[in-house]
Amino acid sequence: MRIPKVKTNPSIYCDYSASAPLRAEVRVAMTEIDDHIFGNPSSIHQPGQAARVALERARKSLAQSIGAKPREIIFTSGGTEANNTVLWGLLKPGDHVVTSLIEHPSVQGPLKRLQKQGIKVTQVSPAATGEVLADEVAKAIGPHTRLITIMAINNETGVVNDLTALGALAAERGVIFHTDAVQALGKLPIDVIQCGIHFLSASAHKLGGPNGVGLLYARQMIPFQPLQSGGSQENGHRGGTENIAGAVGFAKALGLAVEEQEALYQRHLTFRKTFLRELTEEQTDFSVNGSGSSPGVINLRLPGISGHALVMNLDAEGIAVSYGSACASGTPKPSHVLRAMGLDEAAASQSVRISFGYGTTEAEVIRVARVLAQVVLRMAPSIPGVTSDVTWKVEASA
Ligand SMILES: Cc1ncc(COP(=O)(O)O)c(C=O)c1O
Repeated sequence: MRIPKVKTNPSIYCDYSASAPLRAEVRVAMTEIDDHIFGNPSSIHQPGQAARVALERARKSLAQSIGAKPREIIFTSGGTEANNTVLWGLLKPGDHVVTSLIEHPSVQGPLKRLQKQGIKVTQVSPAATGEVLADEVAKAIGPHTRLITIMAINNETGVVNDLTALGALAAERGVIFHTDAVQALGKLPIDVIQCGIHFLSASAHKLGGPNGVGLLYARQMIPFQPLQSGGSQENGHRGGTENIAGAVGFAKALGLAVEEQEALYQRHLTFRKTFLRELTEEQTDFSVNGSGSSPGVINLRLPGISGHALVMNLDAEGIAVSYGSACASGTPKPSHVLRAMGLDEAAASQSVRISFGYGTTEAEVIRVARVLAQVVLRMAPSIPGVTSDVTWKVEASA
């Protein structure tokens, strides 16, 4: 089959929160598997057992990086499936769940459907900084609360929630604690025992691993129903032959992310300062949405500028950023996260997300800031609407 080539400008990719490019080391590790491992890990013959060994090595390495036991790691097709598994598998009519207004649609969607089946849901508002505070979650807990599900890092703002405080609260009140850590795994140290986490969702493609692989950490002894039955794989928690190359690629990507975690954090801190300084020097009118607790994610508000049009204009310049989250960016609706943080509809629609990753360079950061400043200048006369012309070129240095 011929794969159609998408024509792109020499591009700068600043949308790592949506998905990170596959890391070269991950590709090598996955190719090695694809070239040599073909057996079914459930088969008892040697090719099957070779696949089993590769799968279990990957599981062990992933488990170690979050302080879990290997048997507590369930491979899934990604973060969405991990979130759905825990919500559908755990909750029964009459149960109450405490969640937040800033969760990813893969948590909000299933909860909305579960509500129709008699599950009660309370959505806590974040503070104006974007953080979901444990004190607010505490107020929402009632006698029937079975689960707290609060994300570790918000995908749109990069705001980090205090997992230790949330875990301690859950332990104190005898409630199960799930966190969607899709944006957090590899970016901050997480120990599931120290943080009091019972369930954790993660995904490989946010780290430079492959698409279509994720995991659910499920604390031993907490029973839940599988979302996908029909096979006894993954200790009966998820039927279906496992994706060996995917699991190995995920483990490799997380290993690299953990090794580079501190250095990358410091680099992103510098990039953030550089980016905001450049915008200030260009006299761009902007503000930052959220507390900025993950330095690699900048949610920028540009008064009077349509965020959606800005993303298209930057794309025409070969710069990839996003309007809200990637999943929502096909539909230009103002972000539910920014609205929950108190921005009105107009302010929320004047915002874009810039996210750096392992491959971002300082030269790219400077170029993005300068081009963005010039694009905004060109768009400004069209306030408050959407610019019609997305094809003009910007002469930006650096
Ligand atoms: C916070 C969060 N949760 C869940 C998901 C879904 O993960 P996946 O794409 O692996 O299904 C994403 C992806 O954008 C995310 O950012």
